Amino acid sequence: MTQHVTAALPADAPSDAAARREWWRDAVIYQVYPRSFADGDGDGMGDLPGITARLPYLQRLGVDAVWLSPFYLSPQADAGYDVADYRAVDPMFGTLPDADDLVREAHALGLRVIVDVVPNHCSDQHKWFARALREGPGSPWRERFHFRPGKGADGSEPPNDWESVFGGPAWTRVADGDWYLHLFAPEQPDFNWQHPAVHEEFRSVLRFWLDLGVDGFRIDVAHGLIKAAGLPDIGHGEQVKLLGKQAVPYFDQDGVHEIYREWRQILDAYEGERAAVAEAWTPTVERSALYIRPDELHQAFNFEYLTTGWDAAALRAVIDRSLDAMNAVHAPATWVLSNHDVVRHSTRLADGDAARGLRRARAATLLMLALPGSAYLYQGEELGLPEVTELPDEVRQDPAFFRTRGQDGTRDGCRVPLPWSGERAPFGFGPVEGGPSWLPQPDSWRDLSVAAQEGDPGSTLEFYRRALAARREHPALGGGRHLEWLDAPDGVLSFRRTTPGGTLVCTVNLTAEAVTIPTPGTVLLSSAELDPGAAEVSVPADSAVWWAA
Ligand code: NOJ
Repeated sequence: MTQHVTAALPADAPSDAAARREWWRDAVIYQVYPRSFADGDGDGMGDLPGITARLPYLQRLGVDAVWLSPFYLSPQADAGYDVADYRAVDPMFGTLPDADDLVREAHALGLRVIVDVVPNHCSDQHKWFARALREGPGSPWRERFHFRPGKGADGSEPPNDWESVFGGPAWTRVADGDWYLHLFAPEQPDFNWQHPAVHEEFRSVLRFWLDLGVDGFRIDVAHGLIKAAGLPDIGHGEQVKLLGKQAVPYFDQDGVHEIYREWRQILDAYEGERAAVAEAWTPTVERSALYIRPDELHQAFNFEYLTTGWDAAALRAVIDRSLDAMNAVHAPATWVLSNHDVVRHSTRLADGDAARGLRRARAATLLMLALPGSAYLYQGEELGLPEVTELPDEVRQDPAFFRTRGQDGTRDGCRVPLPWSGERAPFGFGPVEGGPSWLPQPDSWRDLSVAAQEGDPGSTLEFYRRALAARREHPALGGGRHLEWLDAPDGVLSFRRTTPGGTLVCTVNLTAEAVTIPTPGTVLLSSAELDPGAAEVSVPADSAVWWAA
């Protein structure tokens, strides 16, 4: 491969985002899950050439940037979040030159590219961990991880009571008697971030991908790198229920912020406004805001927003708190409804009725895209894909599913490969009709494919395209930092966004009935059919409208 230092996005790229300063403040970022986006070679697994070939689709969709989940060398114990070599592409996804091509092609189309970095843990096949195992107790290589003797007379009990996020103890015992810490699967040993070599290694990994030209990083488990001194017991049997709600000694420790200050300096040393977003599940948006103070990262995912239900008062409260918290640190708020770890929002919001779920999902999208800040889309939501709930156990791959004996861990259902075209599975996901796909798609996805929706003005795909095109036109969609709530009936949210470039009103009816309100302006876009009168308008149940005011 020709290794060359690319300035992130060429200044003359055909994108509005390219011309803007601090593009990440209001960018719409589309998450590509490489396994399931597009399969270029027909082996049933998505790959980098498949993604590159489909980049024009994303440009046409109207997003500003793409975030790629991990495609690094990995035994795939956790779908690539178990990295064996941070500088290599897994052959299942392609080669390093394929990654280089993808980044260059994206830039040529005016799309930025963010890649995942997984610093909390690696794979048990990573060469450091293999060496630590090989050299045995007392080896300096063990200090790069959290190895400890067990408790009890014969050391047969784990060193503390921490539980893995995927269920079961967070410790595994190796043949020589030591235990090692893994907050996720046993195949994902946690790094010891008190060790200088770990810092040095990740500084180098960041530079490797920045040199290749990526525009930034999504930082996996950004809240987990530092553990409380002495690894104290928690004294609670179902820790997974505490996560994101209450402080635990392995997440959101203050020490993590030093790492991000160090990383910010690296990002700032590159031209092209490289940016990073923290995947940090913290108990409050105020704690999340700490990750994006001016000398730390640029964005943090807003999981409190994602987990808020279809409830006007609750949404208004989380929007207000998010804006207050992010404005206080001069960072943009971010908004997200779906990703590869959660039930797709068209199903999550459905309350058992798929048609209602889709109505609400489309309305939720208009709400999200009208808010000040940056928005994340998850592949397939632009097609209105539902969660696949009927996957047989034998095809599932999510380690959380197995470690919790199927009680939880339903993440395969949102990872089913995308339908692009055709009458038969894999619906254009791979090059051969009737060919393989690593998870089976439901037959009903024939009608949800890109080809089936393209050109149909009532389709969810065309709705997303209109919404994203409008967002590029109107600075009041996404731009600025504030919103003004307007009087509205119970169960209805209405707010005005005023920016130097224009004013816009967004109305969301979260109730099960149509609601009549005074017409706020001229309709820019609505998630359901609308017949506005001059003075009054009936806004259908579970729908949203953008008005130019
Ligand atoms: C968060 C990722 O999004 C998830 O898919 C993964 O299992 C865990 N981090 C562990 O890396």
